[in-house]
Amino acid sequence: MAPSPSDALKRAAAEAAVDEVKSGMIVGLGTGSTAAFAIEALARKARNGLDIRAVATSERSAAQARAEGITLIDMDGLAAIDLAIDGVDEIDARLRAIKGAGGAMLREKIVAAAARRMIAVADVSKAVDRLGQRPVPVEVLPLAQGYVAAAIRALGGDPALRAGTRTDQGNVILDCRFAALDDPAALADRLAAIPGALGHGLFVTEIDALYLATPGGIVVRA
Ligand code: 5RP
Repeated sequence: MAPSPSDALKRAAAEAAVDEVKSGMIVGLGTGSTAAFAIEALARKARNGLDIRAVATSERSAAQARAEGITLIDMDGLAAIDLAIDGVDEIDARLRAIKGAGGAMLREKIVAAAARRMIAVADVSKAVDRLGQRPVPVEVLPLAQGYVAAAIRALGGDPALRAGTRTDQGNVILDCRFAALDDPAALADRLAAIPGALGHGLFVTEIDALYLATPGGIVVRA
């Protein structure tokens, strides 16, 4: 079957970003369909002699990396990684993003924060003038979900439990709609401060560059 136009763009963005990976690097592997193209491209380079090790942001990405022969290492002994490549659900001109439609935002945030350079990869449909069309996912300790939902309502959000979903850490996800996402940095801080909210998908400072695939070619924003 021919790839969809959006898959072709996702692949193009992912492959362009993977060109930044150099031998000796520890690479953070993102989660989602665009990140999967990056893992595929990285595996191809590794088979051709690129010497890298990787940490994965989800069990899904770890399984893909393992199957494709990428050497995985544990994150727990690392203070920093060299380069992370990951998808986004929405991203604005200041490289602020919403992530976590795939439910991996807690580990994705840790890997992005630990990365000396974090590259977002996306097709043009993910670029927005203003964040907030999509809900902000929040990973929540199951016993705290009632309390966290109330705290999010107090911030002006409308939390909805992602039905039938547990994260790789065994937690639940609240997808939180906000009528106006005027100050993403302030909201990110407030969400991070709620006891029982373990992580959220608002990325306001972590992303260093965006490889955006458009029908006219790759646009790099930094
Ligand atoms: C997973 C994510 C993904 O990176 C995000 O949802 C984008 O996915 P895709 O590349 O499939 O559109 O944040 O938690």
